Amino acid sequence: METTEIKERPRGLGGSMKTRNVQALGADQKKLTDEIMERYIRPEMNSDDMFSGDSSEEIPVIDMSRLMDEMSREEEASKLKHACEEWGFFQLVNHRVPEKVIEEMKDNIKGFFGLPLEKKEEVAQLPGDLEGYGQAFVHSEEQKLDWADMLYLFTQPPHFRNFKHWPAQPPSFRDSLESYSSELQKVAHCILDFMAINLGINREKISELFGSQTVRMNYYPPCTNAHDKVVGLTPHSDACGLTLLLQVSPVAGLQIKRNGKWFPVMPLPDALVVNIGDALEILTNGRYKSIEHRAVINAKEERMSIAALHSPSFGKTVGPLAEIVDKEMPLFKSLSMQEYAKLLFSLKIYGKNLIELMKLDPR
Ligand code: OGA
Ligand code: NI
Repeated sequence: METTEIKERPRGLGGSMKTRNVQALGADQKKLTDEIMERYIRPEMNSDDMFSGDSSEEIPVIDMSRLMDEMSREEEASKLKHACEEWGFFQLVNHRVPEKVIEEMKDNIKGFFGLPLEKKEEVAQLPGDLEGYGQAFVHSEEQKLDWADMLYLFTQPPHFRNFKHWPAQPPSFRDSLESYSSELQKVAHCILDFMAINLGINREKISELFGSQTVRMNYYPPCTNAHDKVVGLTPHSDACGLTLLLQVSPVAGLQIKRNGKWFPVMPLPDALVVNIGDALEILTNGRYKSIEHRAVINAKEERMSIAALHSPSFGKTVGPLAEIVDKEMPLFKSLSMQEYAKLLFSLKIYGKNLIELMKLDPR
């Protein structure tokens, strides 16, 4: 495995075209012309695609305190295994992130998105760069757009941070994000550790591999006239290895694709939503699968979320782990993390398109 230490934040990974600020559009919906809305309306949105089956089925809930307790560890680890194999998504409770850290992060996110547009634009994305306030994955004038704005930042390793894009307002934003980032990094490593045990692979190797974290803070304004025809976040799987999502608002919006239907993930107070990303599907040679998900819009209420995305460090390789493909055929290509990230940011994100490109041709 490649282990080159990367000292500097990687540049030139890609960018996104500048588009309208959606929060500003949402704030004055009487001014929304058909021409503006045309970029956001998705004729393919269909309520028949919603899950309507057994409502007793719920996304698994994993209790981290039970994983930590020797008495309950085995049972909870087996629940985790089932969640990873059968769902790719679960809610994590008793995750040990101090309540204060979570509450301050929520307040700072609300505070940031509540600032006037000119203030938020002080940390706007620059052409050809990914970090900052704006939109992601926009590559053409024709492409349908998401009904959301976002702030995207590199948070780990600490020397990758580019404070030019870190809001200076609210005043506690930066400190709060630093604490949140390191707490979430710990939780991610703990979950990866148990996943490695369940998979029978080397825990240290996995832990050493996952040094990169970025965060994506999402703001979904309400949309009164067409909330069922616009999409907050296009169906996608996460390119990273492991995502930990905090639903900042008590408003439903996240949905996962399950047996071909959209299944809602209700906000559970104090829980983190954990999901498997493409990089983990690739590393495990398909044993764990990334799951498509999307965010839908509420007619009346705004919604915010923060996704902490954990990936192999820059300098490492994204490819099936040697200890797995010792015994079986690799299903995916291996790319350096830089090449993998470049490929991701050159795409118009949709479904599992990145993983499709990473698949080796069947021989
Ligand atoms: C993401 C994501 C879902 C949400 O940021 O990758 O899937 O509910 N977010 O905001
Ligand atoms: Ni996602």
